[in-house]
Amino acid sequence: MSANPFATLPDPGPGVFTAPLQRPAHVGEDWLEPAQRAYTAEEHRVWDDLYARQLEILPGQAASTFLRGLDRLALGRGGVPDFVRLSAELGALTGWSVVPVPMLIPDHVFFWHLANRRFPAGNFIRTRECFDYIQEPDVFHDVFGHVPMLADPTFADYMQEYGRAGWKAMRHNRLKALGALYWYTVEFGLILEADGLRAYGAGILSGPAEAVYCLEAESPNRIMLNVDRVMRTDYVINDLQPTYFVIESFSELYHDTVERDFDRLYRSLGPGFTYANTAVIDVDDVLHRGTQEYLLRGGRGSGSRPV
Ligand SMILES: [Fe+2]
Repeated sequence: MSANPFATLPDPGPGVFTAPLQRPAHVGEDWLEPAQRAYTAEEHRVWDDLYARQLEILPGQAASTFLRGLDRLALGRGGVPDFVRLSAELGALTGWSVVPVPMLIPDHVFFWHLANRRFPAGNFIRTRECFDYIQEPDVFHDVFGHVPMLADPTFADYMQEYGRAGWKAMRHNRLKALGALYWYTVEFGLILEADGLRAYGAGILSGPAEAVYCLEAESPNRIMLNVDRVMRTDYVINDLQPTYFVIESFSELYHDTVERDFDRLYRSLGPGFTYANTAVIDVDDVLHRGTQEYLLRGGRGSGSRPV
């Protein structure tokens, strides 16, 4: 049996481009905080209020796998969950843990943690001034949005494989392509369940607007997921998505990803994206062809309604 190549942080090697993020002085190469932040009473109340609001919205919108994970991990016991307790409970289910980081961390460090079944979560929590939308992921996005899915064994394996695949993509300098796959699955993925479409992406489920928009609005495209096509597709990071990709099951997603020959794919991909984020192409299996009205009216900056 070969040794685990991710036991310690690997060296990316020569000619590999990584994000030039400035590492705070108090964290090491792993970017881990020595301990989770001690939250104030008001910060705990922000968690409780965000949690209560999402629970009003999510029934009928969130995937059953997400709701089951939320229930099993009981993230609404009051206040920001304690990562040590959460990790013990999550660890018993799928072997994952949740570890605190100060901010967005470099991709190669993020992938390394995922490859070791550690989920890095933002240590801070948003203030009431940005209750509805934040650009940097905070503890509510990371823990409420991502951790329930990690209680599912198949999705938990997918995330670990994603971390390993990240290192491969990086060595080909094709991180953007793999980033698109993360975006359209882990952050903004939809799944077709027996009762209809549901959302499982953390970017959708940790906020109030997109959980409804992604399933019910006329504007966005909803297209069955094809891994090669998605990895060639651009995405927006600061507005509602013009396109969502839909899977039929998490095991299909796992197999489509793990069994794909990424080396060959990366060699055939250019550094940019082939398809715009609004594109519908000949090979697509389209569930809903969007009007793109929201985008055409100007999107978030214009105050346009998400229709
Ligand atoms: Fe996220």
